[in-house]
Amino acid sequence: MLSHSLPELSYPYDALEPHIDALTMEIHHSRHHQTYITNYLKLLEWTGLTEKYSPSELLAHLDEVDSEKKQGAINNLGGHINHSFFWSIITPHPLNRVLSTGNLSAALQETFGSFDEFRDQFTATALTIFGSGWAWLVKDKHGSLALRQTTGQNTPLSDGEKPIIGIDVWEHAYYLKHQNKRADYIAAFWNVVDWVQAEKNFSE
Ligand SMILES: [Fe+2]
Repeated sequence: MLSHSLPELSYPYDALEPHIDALTMEIHHSRHHQTYITNYLKLLEWTGLTEKYSPSELLAHLDEVDSEKKQGAINNLGGHINHSFFWSIITPHPLNRVLSTGNLSAALQETFGSFDEFRDQFTATALTIFGSGWAWLVKDKHGSLALRQTTGQNTPLSDGEKPIIGIDVWEHAYYLKHQNKRADYIAAFWNVVDWVQAEKNFSE
């Protein structure tokens, strides 16, 4: 269960080389992600809310936050939740495609026609986000698969949708290695997606 502190990665920073470089991983995790946590803890200091609620529960109770602090809390709490999810969906031991025997494989085929078509559509979804944001494969409220774009640190959880995989397309996720070439970063991302975790996200 996610807490209000930086989750430890289950792999070292250099484990995803050459697809995601060690320096990007280190700065992304230890500085960017940590800063989101630090920021919302500061905003919610003395409110008691972080003692009362887990991060995902807190997301559903942000109406209890003072209006002048609410947007900052949404942005930074979203940053914590999204990044925690991102670390869990990438792995140094990838399979390169979805498990053919799982429920997710069948659902991807039903929704997109084929795994390759899904990958093309997800790539296009991630490429066309204007500015900073995330692309997602989600299970919607009806249990169907869908592609989503969110801007800033908004999360599909706020709309009652469950992320299956997601990619951070803020420049801080790729600028050191790929500079402005988001397409190269998305291509590299496909080499590290944890399809075992994706299957769990879909089936559980
Ligand atoms: Fe990020």
